[in-house]
Amino acid sequence: MSNGLKKTNLKTAIVTGGSKGIGFRIANILAKKGFNIVICSRNLLEVKKAKREIESYGVKCLALKVNVASYKQCKSLVKKTIESFKRIDLLVNNAAIQGPVGRLWQNNVKEWEKTIQINLLGVFYISHLVIPYMLKQKSGRIINLSGGGAAYARPLFSAYSCSKTAILRLTETLAEELKGKNVQVFALAPGATWTEMTKEAMQKSIKIKNKKNLDELKMIQASGGTSNIKHEKAASYLLSEDSKKLSGKLLHVDEIDKIQKTSFKMKQDSGKLRRVDY
Ligand SMILES: NC(=O)c1ccc[n+]([C@@H]2O[C@H](COP(=O)([O-])OP(=O)(O)OC[C@H]3O[C@@H](n4cnc5c(N)ncnc54)[C@H](OP(=O)(O)O)[C@@H]3O)[C@@H](O)[C@H]2O)c1
Repeated sequence: MSNGLKKTNLKTAIVTGGSKGIGFRIANILAKKGFNIVICSRNLLEVKKAKREIESYGVKCLALKVNVASYKQCKSLVKKTIESFKRIDLLVNNAAIQGPVGRLWQNNVKEWEKTIQINLLGVFYISHLVIPYMLKQKSGRIINLSGGGAAYARPLFSAYSCSKTAILRLTETLAEELKGKNVQVFALAPGATWTEMTKEAMQKSIKIKNKKNLDELKMIQASGGTSNIKHEKAASYLLSEDSKKLSGKLLHVDEIDKIQKTSFKMKQDSGKLRRVDY
């Protein structure tokens, strides 16, 4: 098991929303490892710009304008990936939006719906299309980006947090369905990171005058948030043999070191979303 940037045997990775922010970081980390990359976003100029940087690592990058909220567009992405690279070894479901910020009854209905369409249905669509190829290959990994409010209540971010909680249950359920098939599914909490999404959360928090959010976001802005090194370590771990036993689980980037160093026994049922703890 290694945390270094050794090239892996795996070959093709799809990173949705790989044009900027954490997705772009992950795409670069994977390119350094020798993966051919497929990225998509709703902005063709931005994905093309990202492609140039990713290809500077000597791999191929397919950059596509795709809205993951459209099954038809996701289908075309997967078709083009197979035409170009013949296989899909890793799927990183990263594309997401912040959605409306504020009390639920004051949220715009269309914005709420759109958040679920992108953050949840987008993950379902691509996974639905990619998994048959992974099953045929008898190998594959899926990493679903979790987010703030996934494992606990997050007032003022109801659409975002509901979509991310649903991702956790989707991850757990899918891991069960894929047991014994050598396809692992993880949820990854990437840690607060200064990106377009956190910038937007800051602007929206100013608008609704939420001091608590604003103070937290200012701290992320000042430090830049989670380092590249932590994301590299998380990627290496989730591609390792050792992480296979954690398929279905939510891992936080801050815990990766601890998970690797500690020998622990998993509880029979460590799901917490449906229970009262007492
Ligand atoms: N930043 C954080 O602190 C933080 C913390 C926890 C979890 N996360 C999670 O990490 C992931 C990345 O977040 P980020 O902060 O890097 O966000 P970001 O900077 O806003 O980047 C989001 C990416 O997704 C793309 N995207 C959004 N909607 C899309 C759609 N419908 N179809 C295709 N692509 C789409 C964006 O491009 P276009 O907008 O041009 O389409 C962009 O490439 C998200 O899942 C987020 O929930 C972030």
